[in-house]
Amino acid sequence: MSAFATRAVHVGQLPDPLTGAVVPPITLASTYVMDEVGVPRAGYDYSRSGNPTRSGYEAALASLEEGERALAFPSGLSAEDTVLRALTRAGDRVVYSQDVYGGTFRLFNVLLPTEGKPTIGLDATDTDSLRAAIRDARPRVVWLETPSNPLLDIIDIATAAELAHQVGAFLVVDNTFATPAQQLPLKLGADVVVHSTTKAIGGHADLVGGAAVFVPGLELGRDGVSETGLVADEAYWWQNATGAVPGPFDCWLGHRGLKTLQTRVRAASASAQQIAAALALIPQVRRVRYPGLPGHPGHQLAARQMTGFGQVVSFQVGDPGLAKAICESTELFALAVSLGAVESLIEYPAAMTHPQKADSDAAIPADLVRVSIGLEDTGDLIADLTGAIERAVASHA
Ligand SMILES: Cc1ncc(COP(=O)(O)O)c(C=O)c1O
Repeated sequence: MSAFATRAVHVGQLPDPLTGAVVPPITLASTYVMDEVGVPRAGYDYSRSGNPTRSGYEAALASLEEGERALAFPSGLSAEDTVLRALTRAGDRVVYSQDVYGGTFRLFNVLLPTEGKPTIGLDATDTDSLRAAIRDARPRVVWLETPSNPLLDIIDIATAAELAHQVGAFLVVDNTFATPAQQLPLKLGADVVVHSTTKAIGGHADLVGGAAVFVPGLELGRDGVSETGLVADEAYWWQNATGAVPGPFDCWLGHRGLKTLQTRVRAASASAQQIAAALALIPQVRRVRYPGLPGHPGHQLAARQMTGFGQVVSFQVGDPGLAKAICESTELFALAVSLGAVESLIEYPAAMTHPQKADSDAAIPADLVRVSIGLEDTGDLIADLTGAIERAVASHA
């Protein structure tokens, strides 16, 4: 197998045989001619069921995550929803790490229970709690987000996989924050990886998309479950049955994002490391949450299971009003939700990305600010953040 950077550029994208175009044209067609009834000429009959631009993108995603098959979706949440539909039936339980994106939390906290699928959220950085929850609940699915959004918790994927597999559960990991450029959950024992490709994979804040990638040979039948067949086929069945498919232009954007993913993520992570260190020196900043800092409780684990620490940094300033004022005082950092773009973004998670968690056990600290580091000059970004903190402190005094 060639290296990540080589596969990112070449897998799923051969030159167009007709014209020699190095970048094949986007296939916009919704339908495909047949020479005989029921015999598609090149395997495609209707673009909900399959599309060449989507197939190329999915091949690249599968290759980079080192899975057998990938499915592309119109959003991260639709990828999550389809994977959960494929893996669970009414009565099945799901154990999940509760520091997850607000929309994911809503899936677990509202949607699944209404479908008769009880869910148990917990702090999965605590391996003993995770072990006890899995032992007691005997779930069908264990779901982790690591690094987590927005607290940047690091969870031990290999240990979680072992615990899940002991009771016949599947381990799903949301790899949005690390990306396959910095973490390969399937190699660590996870069964399925999901992504919001809206983030670093798209990389330019101009795409909403999702993906799911499956470990080779993953069978549905486990521990007394009589269903047969591959999980990837089951997920594809649900995707086609519910129509959860991305358009060809979005697939093309996602595929283009993959080609520069490693370079962008490396550069942004190097910058994030310096920014986290600079924030830690500011007296008003009470706590910086970045797994690349040696003082982060998950630093050693992150150093083992990741090859970089990501482009998101969160920090706490001890006061909700001050946190909001900082978000409103930057000039380079755009006050906006989302992350993983070439543009640096700042946001206030308690109200902007995670309001679904208010008043729950998983509520976000009210003094937390989250920044996503882009590709601007690191010195300019540090100056912008320190200036914003100074101005916010002055206006808040
Ligand atoms: C970690 C994580 N997973 C999933 C999602 C959901 O993805 P989307 O917004 O593309 O539906 C998000 C969105 O912010 C996220 O941050």
